[in-house]
Amino acid sequence: MTIMTIPTKPIEGQKPGTSGLRKKTRVFMGPHYLENYLQATWDGIGGVAGKTLVLGGDGRHFNDRAAQVMLRMAAASGAKKVIVGQNALLSTPAASHLIRKRKADGGIILSASHNPGGPDGDFGVKYNVANGGPAPEGVTEKIFAATTTITEYKIVEAQDIDLATIGTSHLLDTEIEVVDPVADYQDLMEQLFDFPAIKALFAGGFRVSFDAMHAITGPYAKAILEDTLGAAPGSVTNGVPLPDFGQGHPDPNPIWARDLMQTMFADDAPDFGAASDGDGDRNMIVGRGIYVTPSDSLAAIAANASHVKAYAGGLKGVARSMPTSRALDRVAESLGIDCYETPTGWKFFGNLLDAGRATICGEESAGTGSDHVREKDGLWAVLFWINMLAARKISVAALMAEHWKTFGRNYYSRHDYEAVDSVAAQALVDDLRKRLPDLPGTTAAGLSVESADEFAYDDPVDGSRSEGQGLRFTLDGGGRIVLRLSGTGTEGATLRVYLERVETDADRMHDDPQEALAGIIAAAEALAGIKQRTGRDKPDVIT
Ligand code: G1P
Ligand code: ZN
Repeated sequence: MTIMTIPTKPIEGQKPGTSGLRKKTRVFMGPHYLENYLQATWDGIGGVAGKTLVLGGDGRHFNDRAAQVMLRMAAASGAKKVIVGQNALLSTPAASHLIRKRKADGGIILSASHNPGGPDGDFGVKYNVANGGPAPEGVTEKIFAATTTITEYKIVEAQDIDLATIGTSHLLDTEIEVVDPVADYQDLMEQLFDFPAIKALFAGGFRVSFDAMHAITGPYAKAILEDTLGAAPGSVTNGVPLPDFGQGHPDPNPIWARDLMQTMFADDAPDFGAASDGDGDRNMIVGRGIYVTPSDSLAAIAANASHVKAYAGGLKGVARSMPTSRALDRVAESLGIDCYETPTGWKFFGNLLDAGRATICGEESAGTGSDHVREKDGLWAVLFWINMLAARKISVAALMAEHWKTFGRNYYSRHDYEAVDSVAAQALVDDLRKRLPDLPGTTAAGLSVESADEFAYDDPVDGSRSEGQGLRFTLDGGGRIVLRLSGTGTEGATLRVYLERVETDADRMHDDPQEALAGIIAAAEALAGIKQRTGRDKPDVIT
């Protein structure tokens, strides 16, 4: 086995976005593309010599090849050890847990999350740091800088490592330990939740339908829900991970998890439905005949945490990303705890969790999690809900009705305009930004604008500042609009428009969200001229 030093040149566009570097799979498979980025990652983090790393991915097309490249490059640069999930699989939360549990220096997660997979789909590489969370901006900037100056990379010439067999082997001096991807994660869940109570619930006939969307959570959900907790066989659907996710779009929302929605709105619907995404960090919660928005789910989780084993002692604080609805703020206020507002992306929660300022965090994009790991965690949210329902002996619909009665209902929706011309999308945002100072006091579609600004975040723990995190507008009557461009897309630009309005009149809490938000939607159009500027007459995806 020899270490080869391969000359290379910088490749343009290797800038990590909201969550690592994401590109078309074919781009990642192109000459030197992955190798350049991995070498830049090693260089950006000060080398991997003597370090221990975790490696795993969501099983999408190219996952297996990329894992072999990573191992050969980690060995070539002198890594002490790499802990790999069997067959190079690990859900994102399981990877985060493994980094923490084994006190690794960091980890590489191969995933493009909820983006479709396959040779024509997307691929991604994300570096997580020693706390188990996504690398903060200071680190991703160094990685990016290294991609622009790279001249060579190091790789071992070797046969493929056997990743199918659990056990330890060596590549040069680097120890490669292949581990069961589920076991440690399952242990953690058992510490957090009241498994006996959930077992009793299932034994009593409680029915659940979990759609793993042919993605990574299948084996985790089967092992935990069916094999351990006793949910009926077949409760987990689409449970076998496939490299192209069965040609599906592994994004757990009412559009892409349509089958689950149908199951949950049928006459004989199960008591509880859920889904998770490509890499297992997102979740979708559905009750019989009721879809729970991620923002409402986050608020309900915080409000009911005292009923759930590991959280019964109280929450230190909570945090949500800025575009996430303010339903959580109302719960925090009633609990007398802090509620932090952070930019979009899980990496911004890391410091708050590490510093013990927040226990539970969430994003409107189907991400919920706690201080048990440093990623959002799909199955965790599902188990939290089931534990909560078991403890409270209540249905999802009844729990949400009670929640809205107590705290008011934050009607919420996100409208996405996908693959928009990048120049047009940037111009929309830039022009609106210029008008921000003039907008307060004016009206938009009959609603008066109370405030208009661009969100910037000063991290209360390390003092770092992140600017340009979305344009936001508050309207009289408790309405709010946020506009921002996605940082995870791989084609053109995606414009996200987040719409919110609080309803405190109990008689009006069961309207259709799109109808309840009609005035806010019209105001967003009036403010930003979305139709004309994007050339679209309606959003591509409404969640
Ligand atoms: C999207 C979501 C964001 C989430 C991220 C990674 O990012 O909006 O909340 O953290 O995916 O899952 P965006 O495409 O909006 O930049
Ligand atoms: Zn994901």
